[in-house]
Amino acid sequence: MKKAESTTQFPAGFLWGASSSSYQIEGGSGPSLRGESVWDAFCRKPGAVHGGHTGAVACDHFAQMESDVRLMQAMGLKAYRLSIAWPRVMPDGDGAVNSQGLDFYDRLVDVLLQHRIDPWVTLFHWDYPLALYRKGGWLNRDSARWFAEYTGHVVRRISDRVSNWMTINEPQVFLQLGHGDGTHAPGVKLPLSEQLLAAHNVLRAHGMAVAAIRTHAKTPATIGWAPVGHVQFPANNAPGTIAAARAATFSITKRDLWNNTWFADPVCLGHYPEDGLREYGSDVPRFPDSDMKTICQPIDFYGVNIYTGTPVVERDGLAVPVDPVPGAARTAFNWTIEPQSLHWGPRFLHERYGLPVYITENGMSSHDWPDEQGRVLDTARVDYTRRYLRALHGAIEAGADIRGYFHWSILDNFEWAEGYKERFGLIYVDFATLKRTPKLSAHWYKGVIASNGLALDHPTGLDLDLPLTGGIEPQPIPTPDRRTTVG
Ligand code: FCB
Repeated sequence: MKKAESTTQFPAGFLWGASSSSYQIEGGSGPSLRGESVWDAFCRKPGAVHGGHTGAVACDHFAQMESDVRLMQAMGLKAYRLSIAWPRVMPDGDGAVNSQGLDFYDRLVDVLLQHRIDPWVTLFHWDYPLALYRKGGWLNRDSARWFAEYTGHVVRRISDRVSNWMTINEPQVFLQLGHGDGTHAPGVKLPLSEQLLAAHNVLRAHGMAVAAIRTHAKTPATIGWAPVGHVQFPANNAPGTIAAARAATFSITKRDLWNNTWFADPVCLGHYPEDGLREYGSDVPRFPDSDMKTICQPIDFYGVNIYTGTPVVERDGLAVPVDPVPGAARTAFNWTIEPQSLHWGPRFLHERYGLPVYITENGMSSHDWPDEQGRVLDTARVDYTRRYLRALHGAIEAGADIRGYFHWSILDNFEWAEGYKERFGLIYVDFATLKRTPKLSAHWYKGVIASNGLALDHPTGLDLDLPLTGGIEPQPIPTPDRRTTVG
């Protein structure tokens, strides 16, 4: 292959995209349009969601889908990661199919393809059917079968035009926050044993959905998933630090679900990790051996969502986290800005699991607003994304097979328990009028896509008509003139 001329040119065919999820953008709610999800119920709980916000209208993408896709095309997106609302397809989660619900996704796929944007479809991004929750939800062993049946309906309907699939988004997060901490839907605090039972059924659901896609797909399917990546990365380049960071990224040292391997080892290697089995002990559910075969279906790529990570140094062979310095760079959500997480995370994952990697989410929230001229100048998002993408590029140079990047998110949207407070979009949404305004970052990202990364070489990534350096500089203090000095 010809050596790229620039340090930041991505490999030919690198997939540039943006992400969203159904509950966070669609709206289109109400009994005639879709069944309820656990998030509809959670939003009704007083105090559960910031400001009492709900996803009932969200970005009204359900009605504005075509113009949203036109905006994506204008940005030059090659791919769009969307999710399907299970209760829109099956209002009760199982049984009857709402074919009008499927019509919406059918049209969305057509419109995307007309605009030469490749649809990447996530089957479950947290809007779990409320009716199934009432039947025990993920604690019910049938939940895996329910999910596979729903998957079959979707795949039969759109797989003639869709070939890229992700089963489940961030199992760690909806299980830990929704079923452990109670801060996300369904808002329960289960004991660890039940969280692990729910997790086991989620993993079975993943495996059965992979099998259902392979069975029903009308065109060759490329299948992955989209867990969150918990990355510990080396704070220096010493081989010992790198080894310690790698080991920490793939270890389980706490009795919670914030790790990679409890989920990824079964999916990719066919067993639960030893250290997790020790740490969770008798809380690990009993299950038939055949479950691991169900869970460990061959998949085609490892999708991963990475926003931040923890720098570590090595001491006595172990990784020791480096505390952020006071005032360290953070997003509005208070997440530390750690571009190296997008270098080491995908590298480590590729090494361990041997699958091509796609970054299925990465981005930052900031409290953006339009200026008096109506422009949204989100320079922090440009800087964040530029740094993360340069770090990602370095991972590719180092040999990791990373094939695409989906920015989270295409639109400002309903950020779960934070309501509309945390804005992650490349496109600003005025939630009073639902008007869309592409932010500076959208214009900038368009240039990154069009140049396949070359634009990342520009020192600031920005073409602002501002003296970014110079102009405001400390001036030497004039020597006092003795003749006029008083005293
Ligand atoms: C991830 C979720 C996504 C969005 C981003 C900010 O955890 O998958 O829906 O909320 O965080």
